[in-house]
Amino acid sequence: MEEFDLFADERQQDLAEADRLRKELRHHEYCYYVLDAPEITDAEYDRLMVALREIEAHYPEEVPKDSPTQRVGGRASGQFTEVKHLEAMLSLGNAFSDAELRAFDERVKQGLPADTKIEYVMEPKIDGLACSLIYENGKLVRAATRGDGVIGENVTANVRTIRSIPLVLKVPEGETVPELLDVRGEVYMPRQAFMRLNEQRAERGESEFANPRNAAAGSLRQLDPNVTAQRNLAFFAYYLVGEGAQAKHSDSLALLKKYGFAVSENYQVVPDIEGAIAFINQFNELRQGLAYDTDGAVLKVNAIYQQRILGATGKDPRWAIAFKYPPEQATTTLEDIDWRVGRTGVLTPTAVLTPVKLSGSVISRATLHNEDFIKAKDIRIGDKVVINKAGEIIPEVLRVELNARTGEEKIVEIPTKCPECGWIVERQGAEAAIRCTNPHCPALGREGLIHFASRDAMNIEGCGPSVINALMDAGLVRDAADLFTLQKEDLLQLDRMGEKSCDNLLAAINASKENELDKLLFALGIRHVGAKVARTLALTYGDINKLFAARPEELAKVRDIGGIIAESVVTWLGTPTNIDLIDRLKAAGLKMTFTAPETSTTNPFFGKTLVFTGTLPTLGRAEAKTMAQDVGAKVSGSVSKKTNYVIAGEEAGSKLDKARELGVEIIDETTFLEMLGKNQ
Ligand code: IVH
Repeated sequence: MEEFDLFADERQQDLAEADRLRKELRHHEYCYYVLDAPEITDAEYDRLMVALREIEAHYPEEVPKDSPTQRVGGRASGQFTEVKHLEAMLSLGNAFSDAELRAFDERVKQGLPADTKIEYVMEPKIDGLACSLIYENGKLVRAATRGDGVIGENVTANVRTIRSIPLVLKVPEGETVPELLDVRGEVYMPRQAFMRLNEQRAERGESEFANPRNAAAGSLRQLDPNVTAQRNLAFFAYYLVGEGAQAKHSDSLALLKKYGFAVSENYQVVPDIEGAIAFINQFNELRQGLAYDTDGAVLKVNAIYQQRILGATGKDPRWAIAFKYPPEQATTTLEDIDWRVGRTGVLTPTAVLTPVKLSGSVISRATLHNEDFIKAKDIRIGDKVVINKAGEIIPEVLRVELNARTGEEKIVEIPTKCPECGWIVERQGAEAAIRCTNPHCPALGREGLIHFASRDAMNIEGCGPSVINALMDAGLVRDAADLFTLQKEDLLQLDRMGEKSCDNLLAAINASKENELDKLLFALGIRHVGAKVARTLALTYGDINKLFAARPEELAKVRDIGGIIAESVVTWLGTPTNIDLIDRLKAAGLKMTFTAPETSTTNPFFGKTLVFTGTLPTLGRAEAKTMAQDVGAKVSGSVSKKTNYVIAGEEAGSKLDKARELGVEIIDETTFLEMLGKNQ
């Protein structure tokens, strides 16, 4: 009995300590993510987290859902469910000029009794996506996107990973919170997180997000909350709905702040529309320097009773409007046009400009798209041109200042030869693009090299398009074999390559030498040799020398390889430049053989049929497929009753729906890897 009491005592103490740690961690999350003023180092924070995890591991049944350890939990959801908003999520009408703002103010006055004093709250218009957060008794229970305003998508698991969103509201001792709170605000991606994400995506050969808003939307609508958690999203609260809302909107904002939300520090109460216009002018200066993108300012009638009288028309409230800043423009001189050959042989014109400041950065180049664009705008060298930032990121030439022409301007000469190799260029059919016709143009080699290093091929980490371009532009690399002769001194010359990145890149290049022959065959970019054919060839021949010795008739008899593929392989292997390339790769120490992995009948995927859908967070499609095949699984392209597992990633579509319909087991990448016995 005494012993039991002792345990009970220890349990009590542990649980109390866990509670204390949770409070402390919440406080530090608030300081770091909301106030942007950390009180402890990251390492200290991590130590507290480890301490809490240790205790919680002993009492799993006592871990509350809102513990800081539980921000990411569970698996990919497979699909977002629909939820009905407690109150419609309205959108905003737009104003683009002072006159339109004054007209809005007139409409507000018309809608209220004569001589009513109307105060406005001015707020930044954050460029992200609207979200509704439901708190029951101070705990976050549901988060939803706006959807059509009435029905949104349930994104709770993803929203829980956003650290500036409290899982439990901060409530001062002795105070209570309303039973139900609907907090509206904007999920956004800070500029820095956006740039970093795009850099990473470019390195991995993935498409980049056009702007922080798209990046935020794409990140919030991830099926796997683990992916959202890595995207560094943030949240600003800007509206409190229904119960809990104060008499004035500005008081609601103050209350939201008290509850632990991030509220933009740039909001201001103004006495009338002139004050609103003054705010808009001041804020235009300020917003360039903010850590997040804004595309305007929002005016809201401050008194909630006035908001109620005014109501809404369709989707827009009559008591609020968004002022949109015109995209910033600048005038400068077009000094020259630089024609660059892209990876597909297309020549793209770029304007070389006298450097000019625009939206807080110095611009010296702008896109001109193609020949038709230059002609339609009658752009000439020496012209004064007006540029703007399209989508706030890439500058574009908007128009020519025709009045500023001196007669000295030169008509743009459209190239007839490729600037990279000197071959004839041509414009085919209705295409606006001019292309280099040389199949061996070094620009195409660039594309080949990008493929060589890509994830499903040699998988050289940190060797994405921008690094390959830099290496080629610096003349350090012409083909794949050159990659393996790179020295640290070579790499250090490149922009943005520090000691550490150079070491990492060299290590990744070195590690890729150990790839099996199938990867290399795929990486070489032989026409018609995709990942699957490369694997069949590697499996069948086991050694590149044997493949060299194979005759076309013999090759064509191999399963899944027909005459066209056989022909293509034999031609490629018989071309002197390719023979030389293979010799140099051999000399560099690349593996030229294939060892078939052992198939274990005990693996859960053995003999099972798998379907992959959507983009997996870390594995390339071909890589994942190979891994499955290596353990004796069959990989199919469509879901049927025979499918045993569907492995779903980002943006999985109809296959996932089908799997649900048929009741097929759906797993995410993490589970897939776990089941394969590959603990990451
Ligand atoms: S208020 C009725 N305030 O802009 C209240 N919206 O163009 C409606 N937005 O859907 C929203 N910053 O996603 C409000 N400070 C702010 C905002 C803001 C950004 C977004 C929001 C809304 C869209 C309308």
